[in-house]
Amino acid sequence: MRKKIVIIGVGFLGRHLFKFLRNYFDVVGVDINYNENGSINKVDVTNKKEINFFLKKEKPDFVINTVAMSSYVACQNNYELCRKLNYNAAVNILNACNHISAKMIFISSSYVFDGDKGNYLEEDIPNASSHYSTLKIAAEKEVLKNKKSIVIRSEPMYGYDELKKTLVIGTKSLEGNFEIAYPELLRCPIFINDIPSIIYGLIIKEECGIFNVAGKDKLRWIDFVSKLDMIENKFSRIRIVDASNWELEPPHDTTLDITKINKIGMNITSFTDALDKLRKLL
Ligand SMILES: NC(=O)c1ccc[n+]([C@@H]2O[C@H](COP(=O)([O-])OP(=O)(O)OC[C@H]3O[C@@H](n4cnc5c(N)ncnc54)[C@H](OP(=O)(O)O)[C@@H]3O)[C@@H](O)[C@H]2O)c1
Repeated sequence: MRKKIVIIGVGFLGRHLFKFLRNYFDVVGVDINYNENGSINKVDVTNKKEINFFLKKEKPDFVINTVAMSSYVACQNNYELCRKLNYNAAVNILNACNHISAKMIFISSSYVFDGDKGNYLEEDIPNASSHYSTLKIAAEKEVLKNKKSIVIRSEPMYGYDELKKTLVIGTKSLEGNFEIAYPELLRCPIFINDIPSIIYGLIIKEECGIFNVAGKDKLRWIDFVSKLDMIENKFSRIRIVDASNWELEPPHDTTLDITKINKIGMNITSFTDALDKLRKLL
């Protein structure tokens, strides 16, 4: 019998997960708003009773939580909402999973690190530099109290969003003016299409614990965004802006070491190959 998986949060990542994982599992989607022809269930995961009731009814084998306020700047400006979405929701989902013995997969971020060192290993100790990172670290700790859980620490994601019909970089669409205040940041961005197959591999291999998920290439932020910007052959939408007006300095080098996922045979697309794939898509 096919196993059942519930994807909570059908946003940029959730949509890619939904499309890929339905080839292997019975997939049920949950979101607060989004509804693709009625196939996504409307549930507010900040409401304990709602998510408990829903998961008890569905009885999935696995639950992937992608819900978050994913912009670290937005989190800095609204601690209460950030806490609700990035921490409380994760705890509600974990408790509901524990009741039905479902395995929880939580999407965390390389921003749990302060960015002073780079090339972080799964064993390195996180150090918060914003509300976003504080609450991701706290949520990770809760989720990992269940030894079967998986925590994915991801570098910025990029790729094509079929719903928005645009390229997406991190939490922003590449349309209009794309402002960069810190061009020298170092990142190993991950092609969004790689993440569903990595998660599938971790499930099939019955893995648990923390896994770094990042691209192969360590890139300056400006070089990374410029190359994506050039795919569409439009005149540049990038604007370098004065960092002194930026609300919160991002961590400098959040790059992650991906030896652990490489060792268990996960495939990561190089930035050059991802650019080729995106050119064909656009
Ligand atoms: N994007 C990146 O580059 C990146 C990098 C590292 C880690 N991450 C992490 O990866 C995860 C997925 O990121 P993403 O970019 O796919 O985020 P996203 O596009 O914002 O998706 C999150 C989804 O959750 C939904 N949601 C919000 N509140 C909810 C609630 N109370 N109940 C149910 N659903 C709710 C959102 O709906 P609305 O849109 O209607 O609010 C949205 O569809 C997040 O945990 C993020 O922190 C992302």
